[in-house]
Amino acid sequence: MLFIQGINKLIKQEKAETTKVAECTKKTEPKVQEECENAGQIQPKLFTPGPLLTSKTVKRSMNYDYGSRDPQFIKVVKDIRNDILSICEVQKGEYECVLIQGSGTYGIEAALTTAIPKTNHKLLIIANGAYGIRQQKIAQYNNINYITIDYDDNQVVVAEDVAKKLQENPDVTHVSMIHSETTSGLINPIEEVAKVVKAFNQNIIFLVDAMSSFGAYRINPKEAGIDYVVASSNKNLQGIPGFSFAVVKTDVLLATKGNARSLVLDLYDQWQGLESNGQFRFTPPTHVLKATKVAIDEYLALGGLPARFKRYNNNQKLLVQKMTELGFKLYIDQAFQGCIITTFLTPTHPSFKFEEMYNFLASQGLVIYPGKLTKADSFRIGSIGEIYEEDILTLVKAIQEYLKSKGVSLPVSYN
Ligand SMILES: Cc1ncc(COP(=O)(O)O)c(C=O)c1O
Repeated sequence: MLFIQGINKLIKQEKAETTKVAECTKKTEPKVQEECENAGQIQPKLFTPGPLLTSKTVKRSMNYDYGSRDPQFIKVVKDIRNDILSICEVQKGEYECVLIQGSGTYGIEAALTTAIPKTNHKLLIIANGAYGIRQQKIAQYNNINYITIDYDDNQVVVAEDVAKKLQENPDVTHVSMIHSETTSGLINPIEEVAKVVKAFNQNIIFLVDAMSSFGAYRINPKEAGIDYVVASSNKNLQGIPGFSFAVVKTDVLLATKGNARSLVLDLYDQWQGLESNGQFRFTPPTHVLKATKVAIDEYLALGGLPARFKRYNNNQKLLVQKMTELGFKLYIDQAFQGCIITTFLTPTHPSFKFEEMYNFLASQGLVIYPGKLTKADSFRIGSIGEIYEEDILTLVKAIQEYLKSKGVSLPVSYN
């Protein structure tokens, strides 16, 4: 009875708060919009892999200041942690969700430096792009003993290579890799690698950077044999940048007390804080958390992971179809291509200049992304965030207009 009364009170509070927010928004939004328009600011379409375009309701939900000890805010944190576990199809107690302030890299550094003890360790980093290289940098900064498998950024990770490396290095204690390599847009076979790692030695801890795949690609860490899955608020969940999270196998996390090299990036301590009073140890990004909870609610209401994958996949397929009709070449083999971001090779026509095309598109409120490859000249177009088929068609039409304005004949050429 008391429990039901408590729930009713919470629902009442939530309703009152929603009304308060709606009233507030009604008063402030026209003013904010007017100010933005006066300053010539129109919300551009971001064809980028994060920060990305969020929904209006997500943006609006930040129009309220929470205190970090407010029970309603503590509930937001709790709900996000539970939602993330349910997206991974795991139960609390077998896996834990730890939220931590900062962008995705903070989450990766927190996971690596909490997972790996200060002595008696050897990390294998599997890299096929900038984010694998970033992990190597993290290892260097934190005196982590590591070895690598380095692929070119258009090559997919091969599980047999990992098995071979482990045989050559039986003292490896941790293995880490990227799921969706945002550098190129390819998807690595994390399940196959997990199988090889755990078959070699069940005690090896396996970490996955799922920054740009989480929420669109199914990852069940329990089923796959993954100990850490790390992602952030502002990718496929379409929340606001400002925190990252790790889904960690409970008994693995329990064994990491005292491992961390840094106070703020201590994932174990952060977890202990969240467990003991539901709060972040240090000032939480309150607006970001509230808005991301709204984003997760929208995500779930719209059909969750399968629906998000479907929309992104449709966007990406349409993009590739339209861009290849213009003659653009893709950087990676389509067998490994993900639906998050696509890398196109820069045409060699002397009048084609990426910077010019970027500015031409940006002037029409269409923001794309430069390439990040070490070797080939390229540019990238993201298909995630509040982006729909009609936006893809608008973008490709604008690209065609740019080509026409520069006298680049179609299809575009490569020497
Ligand atoms: C695969 C991957 N890992 C790590 C990161 C780093 O995240 P952040 O830039 O939020 O620190 C990103 C960012 O796009 C990413 O795509």
